[in-house]
Amino acid sequence: MTRKNQIWGQLSDLAVAANKLSIKELNVEPQRDSKFSINLEGIQLDFSRHLINQGIFDRLIDLAKASKIREKALDMLQEKLVNKTECRSATHMTLRSKISDKNQGERNKLFRFSESIRNGDWKSSSNQRFTDVINIGIGGSELGPKMVSEALKQYASGPTLHFLSNPDGERIFSLLNSLQAKTTLIILSSKSFTTTETMTIAKIVSHWLAKELEIDDVESSEHFIAVTADKGKAIAHGIPKEQIITLDESIGGRYSVWSSVGLPVCISIGPDRFKEFIAGGKMMDDHFLNSEYQENMPVLLALLGIWYNNFLGSQTCAVIPYLERLSPLIDFVQQLEMESNGKSVSLDGIPLTATTAPIVWGRTGAGSQHSFFQLLHQGTKLVPVDFIGVKNDALGHKELHKLSLASLAAQAEALANGQYDKNAHLSNPGNKPSSILLLDELTPYNFGKLVALYENKTFSQAVIWNINPFDQWGVELGKRITMELSSGIKPKNRSGQLLIKKMGLEDF
Ligand code: F6P
Repeated sequence: MTRKNQIWGQLSDLAVAANKLSIKELNVEPQRDSKFSINLEGIQLDFSRHLINQGIFDRLIDLAKASKIREKALDMLQEKLVNKTECRSATHMTLRSKISDKNQGERNKLFRFSESIRNGDWKSSSNQRFTDVINIGIGGSELGPKMVSEALKQYASGPTLHFLSNPDGERIFSLLNSLQAKTTLIILSSKSFTTTETMTIAKIVSHWLAKELEIDDVESSEHFIAVTADKGKAIAHGIPKEQIITLDESIGGRYSVWSSVGLPVCISIGPDRFKEFIAGGKMMDDHFLNSEYQENMPVLLALLGIWYNNFLGSQTCAVIPYLERLSPLIDFVQQLEMESNGKSVSLDGIPLTATTAPIVWGRTGAGSQHSFFQLLHQGTKLVPVDFIGVKNDALGHKELHKLSLASLAAQAEALANGQYDKNAHLSNPGNKPSSILLLDELTPYNFGKLVALYENKTFSQAVIWNINPFDQWGVELGKRITMELSSGIKPKNRSGQLLIKKMGLEDF
């Protein structure tokens, strides 16, 4: 039996007795808070409200060691082919530290494009400064840039950003009808440059722009930039090669905000702030690669997730930021973790016996307290929570922010400690685990740490599960059937034929 399997068995044994643990009692221990907290510059993790005692903690650390997380992370940093099924390396982390000359060249282009759009050197076809930017992209080509630009909106000093991703006519045309075409720039962001939704929306937006500007081949005008890994397809689409900025195939979509995909962010907050965001990510990488597992934020978040997911039977985990402009972070983490680790075969293609990624969901507080917190407090499901707070909100209001932080603290305490009542309907059992991530301020540097924290947590869990976090073959079937149905090809099976009839798909 391997050391890892031995530890896995010990954790299974410890899990049997875990239901006797009391977070409230565990937190009476004077040293627990300091032992189960990590304070880095600008970001701290409090994981004292968890169903773990020292013995469980030690075994989890042993699991990290036996899984060789650090060694695998160094393999990734050294650009080994860690993404075996696509015969690729995974270089998002190198973008924050050992950036290659090729990627540096594209980053310099990113900064040049951003500066010239921000200072008005890059003008529209009617020789005007751009006031609005529409990013057309989906999945990692939207969620990362949307999350970062929203989180860092206090630093926005460029054109107004808009994001289009779903083929939803109401959403698209209500945006287009609100904009001046002559001062609108389009970023067509697609790593593959083949994603149906993105290319369909781009066609509609091109028609709008061409009609409004009375220009025929609008894609070759000053109004279009392509962000892609496939330069040839962008040129074939009509976009001039000097208006194309690339990212390497080895950068996964959900890991790509640090690359050229971050163009809308860089246009909005400027290259200097974007560099601070990258520097924050590097700081977290250095912490991840060099800290002992006992004091390693990404590894500890990964281990806590594994403890609930693989040993205590939880099926989901919730991300609950207490700041509205962190709401898009939830969608980002959902794609990051579920598209990376929603797998059922090992690196060698062998069906797994252990369960993998939980369902990641969430909503900002305090609103979620008035919608699903009842289940968290008195339901029958075990749902570990990541609370995310910002101590000093530069855009906030003293009284409002105090209420927001007090709400976060109250929920973590109430979930952990509960309150017994002889009336069973009124009794809160407590013992509901949560981590608290606190940023001092929502700066580019601190937010870069938070994003890299979740990336490195996701990678660490993949290493422990022995799966590939960098491919996503599962989404290809749905894409193929979409293409068939939208081009009028009838399904072969009866249920599909009945469905398209019910939907009137044949009548389009
Ligand atoms: O379908 C999944 C996916 O490939 C994601 O991994 C990716 O972020 C998204 O679609 C968009 O892909 P592209 O950037 O190639 O348009």
